[in-house]
Amino acid sequence: MKLLITGATGLVGRALVHKALSEGFKIHFLTTNKNKATHINGAKGFYWNPSQSEIDNACFEGVDTIIHLAGASISKLWTSKNKKQIRSSRIDSTRLLLSSIEQLKTLHQVKQIVAASAIGIYPPDFDNTVDENTPVHPNSFMEDVVISWEREVDQFKSLDIKVAKLRIGLVLSAQGGVLGPLRIPTALGLGAAFGNGKQGQSWIHIKDVVGLFIAATSAEWEGAFNAVAPHPVSQTKFIKALSKALKRPYFLPPIPKFLIRFTVGEMSSLVLDSHWVSADKVLKNGFVFSFPNIEEAMEEVAKHKI
Ligand SMILES: NC(=O)c1ccc[n+]([C@@H]2O[C@H](COP(=O)([O-])OP(=O)(O)OC[C@H]3O[C@@H](n4cnc5c(N)ncnc54)[C@H](OP(=O)(O)O)[C@@H]3O)[C@@H](O)[C@H]2O)c1
Repeated sequence: MKLLITGATGLVGRALVHKALSEGFKIHFLTTNKNKATHINGAKGFYWNPSQSEIDNACFEGVDTIIHLAGASISKLWTSKNKKQIRSSRIDSTRLLLSSIEQLKTLHQVKQIVAASAIGIYPPDFDNTVDENTPVHPNSFMEDVVISWEREVDQFKSLDIKVAKLRIGLVLSAQGGVLGPLRIPTALGLGAAFGNGKQGQSWIHIKDVVGLFIAATSAEWEGAFNAVAPHPVSQTKFIKALSKALKRPYFLPPIPKFLIRFTVGEMSSLVLDSHWVSADKVLKNGFVFSFPNIEEAMEEVAKHKI
């Protein structure tokens, strides 16, 4: 089975490529950086530039499933320029994949697209658990971006291509992601929660994110699926688990909301919003998590020197 992976050089993409190659998948990948096209041993790279609608159609040759992870980082300061890039990198790239396949007509064999999405699609909620049936509304920048991104991905259905969307939570990895910026203060014993620390953190270990992408591909899942561990925790518990895994004390009070809002503005929603997200649907689909609990997940990640 051949996959075309976008965003293959990123945090999730690198781990996914490694696992998929070990399971015998053939891999093509698209990169916006010409130098990276030859970087992945065992996979064939192709250059694309979604903002200029540039793509090499040879990337689709023999491809059964597209795994679409590409998107500019959301952790850069949300200036109007960066916000535009966060949105356009996801929308333009999805549109370019779709229009290219459409033009190829019968000259492609793509049957499915498995696309990254994010739990940021859900309305923030301190008390209630959300699932894939929870209504979503574009009430904030992040909700609006993710809703629009999913809407573009859904267009593949018009070409009789199955669509699966994995709404990813906070990815725990030693290679980067959410633990990157938290590592230094926590390792110094200065880890602290944000706001009142009661906000829900729906996290997932990188090994399980990769497992979910492989499961969705192999079993041709369709629809939206939450890619989160079955046991979300409060942010206080999240930082405590990180401190414990790094064998550092946790004693500081949470950093007040107003200070975070003053420092990073609208972007403060990334650490202050609360999401208690259900993993029931992927469990019902037979997925078995390697890391269902935060303590074991953090300990495993900390072993690799975050
Ligand atoms: N990590 C998380 O905690 C998390 C949580 C929720 C959702 N997600 C979503 O899951 C996807 C993968 O996450 P990740 O953590 O692996 O992201 P990442 O490490 O930032 O990698 C994303 C990849 O997207 C490509 N990219 C960057 N800017 C682009 C642009 N302007 N146009 C097209 N491609 C661009 C890059 O590949 P090239 O340089 O090779 O082009 C990059 O390696 C992302 O869409 C992200 O939003 C991640």
